[in-house]
Formats: sequence, C-alpha cells, structure tokens
Amino acid sequence: MTRDTVVSLLDEIARIGRDQRRGGYSRPVYSAAELELREWFVGQAERRGLDVDIDGNGVIRAWWHVPSRSTAGAVVTGSHLDSVPGGGAYDGPLGVASALIAIDHLRSRGVEPTKPIVVAVFPEEEGSRFGVACLGSRLLTGAISPERALALRDVEGDTFAEVLARNGVDPRGVGPDPAGLGAIDAFVELHVEQGRALVDLDRPVAIGSSILGHGRWRVSIRGEGNHAGTTLMQDRRDPLVAAARMITEIRTIGRATPDARATVGRVLPLPGATNVIASSVDFWIDVRHPDDVVTAAIVAGITERLSLIAAEEGCMAAITEESFSATTDFDPFLRGRLEEMLPDAPVLGTGAGHDAGVLASHVPTAMLFVRNPTGVSHSPEEYAEDADAEAGAVALADVLEGLAVG
Ligand code: GLV
Ligand code: MN
Ligand code: MN
Ligand code: MN
Repeated sequence: MTRDTVVSLLDEIARIGRDQRRGGYSRPVYSAAELELREWFVGQAERRGLDVDIDGNGVIRAWWHVPSRSTAGAVVTGSHLDSVPGGGAYDGPLGVASALIAIDHLRSRGVEPTKPIVVAVFPEEEGSRFGVACLGSRLLTGAISPERALALRDVEGDTFAEVLARNGVDPRGVGPDPAGLGAIDAFVELHVEQGRALVDLDRPVAIGSSILGHGRWRVSIRGEGNHAGTTLMQDRRDPLVAAARMITEIRTIGRATPDARATVGRVLPLPGATNVIASSVDFWIDVRHPDDVVTAAIVAGITERLSLIAAEEGCMAAITEESFSATTDFDPFLRGRLEEMLPDAPVLGTGAGHDAGVLASHVPTAMLFVRNPTGVSHSPEEYAEDADAEAGAVALADVLEGLAVG
C-alpha cells in the first residue's frame, strides 16, 4: 500500500464539492459535499485506528487514546471542511489532511504519546450557510447561545436546529462544554497562509501570533418596490441605490483608518429582477482592525452615514451585529514552545478568522501557517506547493510530539 501524503489526501478531498459555476469549491456546512467530506474524514481516521466521536456541537473528534483511555490533557489539532462559496482547495482541508499525516509521521517515528492526541473537524467555520463564522467553536465555548444559534436561518429559510436534526445532531445537545474544554492541554491549528508574508520571507512554515479582531454586520434597507418603466426617476425610493452609495462610503471609511479592512461581499436585493425596482436590500459588512475600539468607531461611523443616506434616498435602514471576535493573541507560553520546536519558523499574525481564535480564550492555542505562493485565499487561486504542504505536516508532527510526549 502506498503511503498517504498531505498531497494525496488533498487530491481525495478535491474530488468533492467542486463548484462548476463559481469555480473552486462550495461546501456549505451539512451540504451534500461537506457531509461527504465528513464521512471521508471518519473513514481516514478509522483506517488509522483512531476512535471517532461527534460532540454535542457536531465537532468530529478522532482520538489517538493513551492506554488508560483518559481524555484529560488532550493535545488537539485539526481545522474545518466547510468552505466559502467558490473557495480554494486549502482553506480548512490543509489543516485536516496535515493532522492525519502528522499522526502517520508520529506512528512511523515510533512515538508513544503520554497525552491523547485528537484530530478535530469543526462545522461552519466560514459561516457561509448560517452567517456566523466559527459556529461550532463558538457554541463549544459559549461565545454564542444555543438559542440564538439554533434560530439562525440559511438562505432556504431552514433553521440551524432543523438542519442539525436532519443530520443526526440533536439540537438539544448544542452548547458550551466547559468540561471538554478543560480536558484540552493545547489546540494547534495548521492553515494555509492567506497572505504573502511567507513568500516574502522565503520560508515554508510560520507560527501564528495573533488574529485581527473582526465582525459581521447585516444592513437591511427598505424602499418601495415598483415598476422600472412606469416609475419616474424622481419618484423612486430605491434601496439598491441607497446600498450602492453606502458601499462606496464603507470603502471610504475603511480607507481613512490605517490598518482597517471594511468589505461588502454579499448583497441581496429582493425581489431581484431587471425590470423591478427592489423593495428591499440586505447586505453584509465585514470589518476588521487590530484595535477593537477602532473597529467599534468604524462601525459607529458607518451606521451614522447609513441613516443619512437612507433618509436621502427615502428608505429605512437598520444595522445589526451578527458576530464579533476581539483581537486575539495566542498563548505566549505555548507559542514560545513552538518557537523552540521550530526554530526556523518566523512568527506571523493574520487578518483571517479561525476556530483557533475562538478557542484561544479558553485553551492554550497556537497556529501554524503554510506558505501560499499566490497570497490569495477565499478564491480558487489559493495554493500551497506540494513540498510546503508536506513540510507543514512534518512541522505539525514535531509540535504534536513535543506537546503530547512527556
Ligand atoms: C474566515 O476565513 C474569515 O476570516 O472570514
Ligand atoms: Mn479556514
Ligand atoms: Mn476561510
Ligand atoms: Mn477562516
């Protein structure tokens, strides 16, 4: 039997969830594609003799138990298998494939862990289906209440509770698991880099230092739906025009603040027809900044402009926060240990959100990044060279060995 590699596992993953229309991959949580990948993962874990269970929040865990089968002191790694619409092949899958291969490396090194090693797959990391990123880890840590999470709806109008129940996860079981979190000694997520720092530094792997604070806000604008041919220009209350003005304003506000990112990537006009003035428009804003006070000030500035523009366009606008994650610095002690284990790896912060960022306020957490020659992510252009992907798994194996033995 030929030995698996990160690349061979990624090739298997790449067969699932291709999006012919957008390019890349679309794997919303609990879609056919994501379910197939979850099943694939369980098969890979079982092939490796790992014990698989699924926690109350739908997080799949594959355990390499110590002989006593105690779950205390677990060293957890992993990532996610859901994707943004039209996403790349690496965001999420690289961390999952590398975790499995890191286990293979430890086995072939003859390592006997004294702490359980767990590979975890988190559901709805991207928030592409229910709007809240890192939904699995937020539920696990209590960062979102079960009531709010279960009531979230996808574009079809199905609630998270309904989708969970259809997929064998009892909605009554979701919520914080302090005992489970307390049993984790360390969480280490490996991820493809979502920028160009490692290209510029000419290194294959980095250690993560921090995650930029970030949040999502939903703007709902109501105007007056009407006929495109019979409604005079001066008689219109067109929410899509209001949205267009707001979006350029958001860019202006984002540009005026050093280190800020302000993005509108999703707009939903209703009813959405060429010859119909929209009656309402929803759009979503993603704001990020290292200083959470500045993020709040940016959102306050945007909110003020939204009401002025809405009034000028004869519309009504409301803005609601869907999620927020404060700027996170990873555990300095754990990071120091990784720096000792991987002395050649530079230390980098990231502007992207991860389950590691949510878990970091509850368990010692660290990240590894693997060079992405395109520097592009959330796009089919995302990439990692084969040699770098394999180097990432070796680095992860070194880290797991350092943390789980002794
Ligand atoms: C998730 O990848 C995010 O940073 O939005
Ligand atoms: Mn990711
Ligand atoms: Mn992502
Ligand atoms: Mn992410």
